Amino acid sequence: MIRVHAQARTTDEARRFPLRDIARALDHPWSFAAGEVTRWPDVWGGSRDLLGRLDLALSRGLRVEGHTAGAAADKIAALAAGGLTSDHEPITADEVLERARQGIAVMLRESSLRPDLVGLLGALKSAPALASRLMLTADGSMPAFIRDHGFVDHLIRVAMKRGVAPVDAYRMATLNPATYIGRDGDLGGVAPGRYADLCLLRDLSEPRPEVVVARGRVAARDGRTVVNVPEPDWSRALTTPEARLTVRWRARPDDFRLPVRERYPVIKLVSAVITRLEERPRAEGDLLAALVDRAGRWVAPGLVTGFGDRVDGLASTITTDFNILVLGRRPESMARAVNRLLEIRGGVVLVDGDAVSCEIPMPLGGVMTRLDLPEAAAQEDALRAALVARGYPHHEPLFTLFFLAADFLPFVRLSPRGVWDVKHARVLLPRRARRP
Ligand SMILES: [Fe+2]
Repeated sequence: MIRVHAQARTTDEARRFPLRDIARALDHPWSFAAGEVTRWPDVWGGSRDLLGRLDLALSRGLRVEGHTAGAAADKIAALAAGGLTSDHEPITADEVLERARQGIAVMLRESSLRPDLVGLLGALKSAPALASRLMLTADGSMPAFIRDHGFVDHLIRVAMKRGVAPVDAYRMATLNPATYIGRDGDLGGVAPGRYADLCLLRDLSEPRPEVVVARGRVAARDGRTVVNVPEPDWSRALTTPEARLTVRWRARPDDFRLPVRERYPVIKLVSAVITRLEERPRAEGDLLAALVDRAGRWVAPGLVTGFGDRVDGLASTITTDFNILVLGRRPESMARAVNRLLEIRGGVVLVDGDAVSCEIPMPLGGVMTRLDLPEAAAQEDALRAALVARGYPHHEPLFTLFFLAADFLPFVRLSPRGVWDVKHARVLLPRRARRP
């Protein structure tokens, strides 16, 4: 799947996403779609640039993965005509039907952030024939959720518990997706001349496999991998000091200073991910916030409320923007958190006073751990518990950090351009340059 635009808008996007490179990537035999296309308002508004980018996929016979979170029913026809071929964002059965009726293939989501599958399956009541078209997705579930519930096996189990016939539930995770991406001649079925990794089940009612056969060999047995999975050469992907976070600059408390104003555009978290704008003077319980360039050339300051009022300093490279997000009530602790983060080459660092109290190293570009799933889940548990103890009121802190910079979610974000009003597409508090 090839992205045709950045997750968050930046001033150098045209340079980072040149049409020539996207076309070349889409020509790769393993490419099957452009996406995820999160800028559905631009598709609806007929942005020539974006529609041209979607055409690069459509003209090659490939799919376009949509993301239409919050799009009203009367907008869906235009989004379908604009080229979005799938959507995984419906959060109600009605939204599933609205999209399916306009020819958009729907992926029903059950993720750690949005465990909605039981409700979404209600769409099959009004439209049983959708069983041959719907797909299941875990979207981006966090490690602890996968440890506790399972991965794709969890989706199939939920579907069967809700009354979906087993053969339909399994097809929603196998044949239906293969058909959607146009590869059902090779994938999604067990027959001579096709490709298949096989999951051997004791019974259809328990989708967790006892044995997995991949490429003709037993790859896993009783929950354990029994083959060596070679690691990619990450140095080929992480080619710059910013990407590897081997940078020399260090943060200073002064980086988190707010410009002097009577009123600030405060980002209020009303759930783990959704925000509202409060325009008011700084108040008790507000945390200082900043998005800091990986190369140390700029900082976008702001105020966040509804995250937890007892966080001294928290820094993360887990953001849709890939820059460094910092929150806290003490500028010294915030600087300490950033500098520890740079030392360990990315991840998440929580600081109390001057002491590091919790960290999740992600040494692969600041976005990936080297740990296996149970170890990563244990670190996630520890961070969640530490933040809850400091007042965090929601259920998915890693997604809160991840999406605070995402300028495609309502309603106000800390973007690389500054505090950003999503609906009116305007900067409310600009970023400032900084000496690295
Ligand atoms: Fe999405």
